[in-house]
Amino acid sequence: MMPVRLLCVAGARPNFMKLAPLLCALERDPEIDPVLVHTGQHYDDAMSGCFFRDLGIREPDYHLQVGSGTHADQTAEIMKRFDPVVVKEKPGGVIVVGDVNSTLACSLVAKKNQVPVIHVEAGLRSFDRTMPEEINRIVTDAISDLFLVTEESGRCNLLEDGVPPEKIHLVGNLMIDSLRANVTRARESDILSRLDIREARYGVVTLHRPANVDSGPQLREIMSALEVISETLPIYFPVHPRTRSRLNGHLGRHRISFVDPLGYLDFLCLVSNSSAVFTDSGGIQEETTVLGVPCFTLRENTERPSTIEHGTNVLAGVSSESILNAWTAADLTTRHGRVPPLWDGRAADRCVEAIHAFFNCKPASLAATG
Ligand code: UD1
Repeated sequence: MMPVRLLCVAGARPNFMKLAPLLCALERDPEIDPVLVHTGQHYDDAMSGCFFRDLGIREPDYHLQVGSGTHADQTAEIMKRFDPVVVKEKPGGVIVVGDVNSTLACSLVAKKNQVPVIHVEAGLRSFDRTMPEEINRIVTDAISDLFLVTEESGRCNLLEDGVPPEKIHLVGNLMIDSLRANVTRARESDILSRLDIREARYGVVTLHRPANVDSGPQLREIMSALEVISETLPIYFPVHPRTRSRLNGHLGRHRISFVDPLGYLDFLCLVSNSSAVFTDSGGIQEETTVLGVPCFTLRENTERPSTIEHGTNVLAGVSSESILNAWTAADLTTRHGRVPPLWDGRAADRCVEAIHAFFNCKPASLAATG
């Protein structure tokens, strides 16, 4: 039998560390023929190229170079450029990861071409439909055929939505596969000296959610709490491009150092040596859980509740008062947390097993490639 051709979609920064271990495992499998498609949603070297190098991801087979735009523009452009790839490659399936616009756009194109969609990191829900990622998650899951899930909440949410249990596989967390594979190498990074960090204790901040950074008053609210915290804990803040232009009034004040976005290994090194992380990212809640670093999530909700149940994560909210309350209440000396089940560095193998089972159940016409 011909190997099953699978289009693997990468679009934005958080996709790359999830796809890297999966692509490796798929490439080792003689029954699978993975084709790598980069949509170009993220395109700067600091947001994309550098992650490919750090994670050892090969050159994409297709680079769609969509770039930035409104959500409508970006999603439509990805769909327009991905459609001919699907038509040409006639894949047995399309693998999408996470919850970014590329995930949504490529799932839609696959389904419209009658190609099965495999969603990695399926089932997560913040239950906050003002978040663009929540819409992407809901729509992608509504049309997916195989659901690979990182944590128990994902399975429960999908069952609630009526997904048949046999289509759901709790496989663990690919982002943690990447972390475990790279953490020793990351600790050799010289980022601490490059940033001239001399303090034994410091905090790390990342902020990029539209709800937090697009509105001036909301960003000021968060920054004023961080400025207070920085009086006792110096803070290093790698600034996402979306946030950069909005931070002008805050630059050069207090003990907050604003730096350019960091590569994968440098960032992992910075976080793993830090005393606390303040973030609105999804993936960083997971990484800090495994590293045992206290995480203050600057949001009202999380689609990753296992990082709170098991891990080091607390929801600190987005008001200056709630952030400072969470900070004051935290005991940074004892909180180490536990690692959620199956976040053991072997998620990629479980994904491949589930993908095999899925295609073995299919009629040969779907499993074979043209
Ligand atoms: C996207 C994802 C978000 C993810 C985040 C990680 C969606 C809806 N959002 O948000 O879930 O957590 O990526 O970073 O898909 N820009 C650059 N260079 C780049 C990429 C972006 O300068 O390489 C700038 C552009 O001005 C762009 C802005 O950043 O307009 C936002 O980029 P975009 O991809 O639209 O969304 P993110 O905020 O990065």
